[in-house]
Amino acid sequence: MTDTGEERHIRGQGQTKRLTDRELFESRRFSGTAYITVDRDSFTDGELLIAAKTVRSGGLCVFPTETVYGIGADATDSRAAEKIYRAKGRPSDNPLIIHVSSPSETEKYAVTCPLYYRLASQFMPGPLTVIMPKRETIPKTATGGLETVAVRCPSHPIANALIRLAGVPIAAPSANISGRPSATSAEFALRDFAGRADVIIDGGDADFGLESTIVRITGDDSVELLRPGAVTRDALLCVCGEVSVSPGAAGELPADERPVCPGMKYRHYAPSKPLALVRGDMNSRTAFFAEQAKRGGIIICYDEQLPQIGGEAISLGSEKDLLSQGHLLFSALRRADAMPGDRIFANMPPVEDGGGLGLALYNRLIRAAAHTVVTAGPGGSADDVGGGQPVSSR
Ligand code: TXA
Ligand code: MG
Repeated sequence: MTDTGEERHIRGQGQTKRLTDRELFESRRFSGTAYITVDRDSFTDGELLIAAKTVRSGGLCVFPTETVYGIGADATDSRAAEKIYRAKGRPSDNPLIIHVSSPSETEKYAVTCPLYYRLASQFMPGPLTVIMPKRETIPKTATGGLETVAVRCPSHPIANALIRLAGVPIAAPSANISGRPSATSAEFALRDFAGRADVIIDGGDADFGLESTIVRITGDDSVELLRPGAVTRDALLCVCGEVSVSPGAAGELPADERPVCPGMKYRHYAPSKPLALVRGDMNSRTAFFAEQAKRGGIIICYDEQLPQIGGEAISLGSEKDLLSQGHLLFSALRRADAMPGDRIFANMPPVEDGGGLGLALYNRLIRAAAHTVVTAGPGGSADDVGGGQPVSSR
């Protein structure tokens, strides 16, 4: 690889850097945002140096994780954290998750306990976020004013190397404009953050597709599940004596109750078109989808329903494959938004699994649908589809 000696400017950083031919080829520019493609299975530290330097000097970097893409900045730098809130349009009381490259680093940023290390030895690096009291190293700007901090150690090789090379913990919410579906690919992140982030690292599709499981440590042997994800309640029970499920983990909180997880009170994951969740037995739901597809509705369904629906329905995979449904959910919502048609319908996911992947899907979909639920009856009828308007059940 030869060095052409050409110099490029990283916007907002006030630095120039000599790029190699490969970097020049791979670093495309979008409204001042550097876009770098990195092969997750065979990259070198050198390929992440621009991004790591961007983070270290207070800039914004979009990067892949095993859950969803994050938009990150130095978690110890108040002004860098503020940039994240501005770029996302995120309310300043909604705290950020702090990403570390090894579980023991957490010690510098949070007041840990033996239960944290038990959880870490089982689930970190990986898709689990743990909330603990914060130390002074993390400014309150990053924690939405709270005295607690949410810490996660991602297993994605690019995320992990980026944090290590940056040499600082990275505060990173999901890489989407506030309220929109989380980005599961760099291209989706680019649509939201071209011109707003300094660097976007494209490391391919996120593995899992739904955000991390969030727990709060509530005792020596107990946690509260605040956001369901890939680490299920049953898995947590192998490490903790007690796992309570916060009401907000499943649906909405009563208006008078202060949410433990501030992000829960905001509209979330929402496509710009109205979305309704459809419940009822499988045959009725499929007939209802077929009927709505004829009327120009956009359908997000399962493989098994596709033959009867026809048209351009989007499938999340098999009805039985909850992993595939989680993997494809956010991209399906974004694709549905881009299709002709002004209303979206999707299956109500199974919630009876009490803290597993069904609950994780339900948690995202019920918010994306702003609690709009219709019941499909025989032959494609429904309790009410609101004469063209979605019916809100709550
Ligand atoms: O998988 C993930 O967790 C992704 C990737 C990028 O790591 N990140 C992510 O961040 O989903 P975000 O900001 O989209 O969601 C974080 C959630 C928010 O609902 C926020 O309110 C909650 O975590 N949270 C963060 N710190 C908290 C704290 N100290 N106490 C309670 N909730 C907290
Ligand atoms: Mg988010």
